[in-house]
Amino acid sequence: MMTTRIVGTGAYVPEQIATNDDLARIVETNDEWIRSRTGIGERRIATTETNSYMAAQAAKQALDQAGIAPEDVDLILLATSSPDYCFPNGACEIQEQIGAVNAAGYDISAACTGFVFALNTAHAFIQAGIYRTALVIGSDVLSKLLDWTDRGTCVLFGDGAGAVVVQAADRGVIGVKMHSDGTKGGVLTCGARTNGNFLLGKKPELGYMTMDGQEVFKFAVKKVPEIIKELLEENRTSLEEIRYFVLHQANYRIIESVAKRLKADISKFPANMEHYGNTSGGSIPLLLDEMNRKGMLAPGDKIVLSGFGAGLTWGATLVEW
Ligand code: UT7
Repeated sequence: MMTTRIVGTGAYVPEQIATNDDLARIVETNDEWIRSRTGIGERRIATTETNSYMAAQAAKQALDQAGIAPEDVDLILLATSSPDYCFPNGACEIQEQIGAVNAAGYDISAACTGFVFALNTAHAFIQAGIYRTALVIGSDVLSKLLDWTDRGTCVLFGDGAGAVVVQAADRGVIGVKMHSDGTKGGVLTCGARTNGNFLLGKKPELGYMTMDGQEVFKFAVKKVPEIIKELLEENRTSLEEIRYFVLHQANYRIIESVAKRLKADISKFPANMEHYGNTSGGSIPLLLDEMNRKGMLAPGDKIVLSGFGAGLTWGATLVEW
């Protein structure tokens, strides 16, 4: 049966590095606290780079690696919650920047789960025979949504993008799984511009990120193992068959806890948040590209991708490389 194969990966992070010590100069925090509670040592912060610029760089790399021309892309899905514009959507900006003239494109909003939801959506189009080649990109500039006086959030996030090219093939995605729980939406939010129309007689206000860290932590360590187990059971695959669990890079303690709950060896959980922090939609493809370029992935390897975040949303994809 026709499925969806990842045939190229790419990534881009901004030039500017902000270390934990740099943040200790703007809020009451320190390197020891951030490292021990999160595993984060530094992050990239966009200065000149826009969301679509980062996304387009990652996309170009992925296309280059796959040896696919931009004109051959049918669909561009951008997972983001920090686009450059309300409209046009980021996918259209990327289309213009890379010359993917034949592609339809739109954005998917599911915060840190966005990349997995976008990949699963591309898979649905490919499996239905509607499209053959798609670019799936996760790109976020959360630095512009952060309250830089709130130490509970501003130390956790970084900017970055990752991309994959997927194509119809006889092996690749084995199974997909997605969940949402809007009743818990309040634990991780970023308001959009508020209504300031003439009838209200006030100016619109900007939204900033708010988070109940412990609630998000509890949600992640409960729901991620659960969804991975569901995904594997539905696809009659054992935990032992999985070469790597490529999880959203929010906090190393979340990853350790998921590994423990799954009774899976921690060496199967690659991590790079030490250098990038939580890049939201960018985190999974950024890590996947790093693994791919290091030669960690061999044909036939089975991997699980899993994202979790605001919504609340969580999702997972079982892939044969
Ligand atoms: O993509 C999903 C995005 N969200 C997440 O991944 C968040 C998941 N949650 C977490 O990662 C953790 O809950 C945090 C890292 C956010 C916080 O770790 P924690 O172990 O849950 O700490 P806490 O919130 O219980 O705070 C412990 C103490 C508090 O001080 P008191 O009340 O004990 O005096 C905080 O005020 O640490 C304080 N604190 C800080 N101290 C130094 C909070 N942030 C900082 C900070 N530096 N940056």
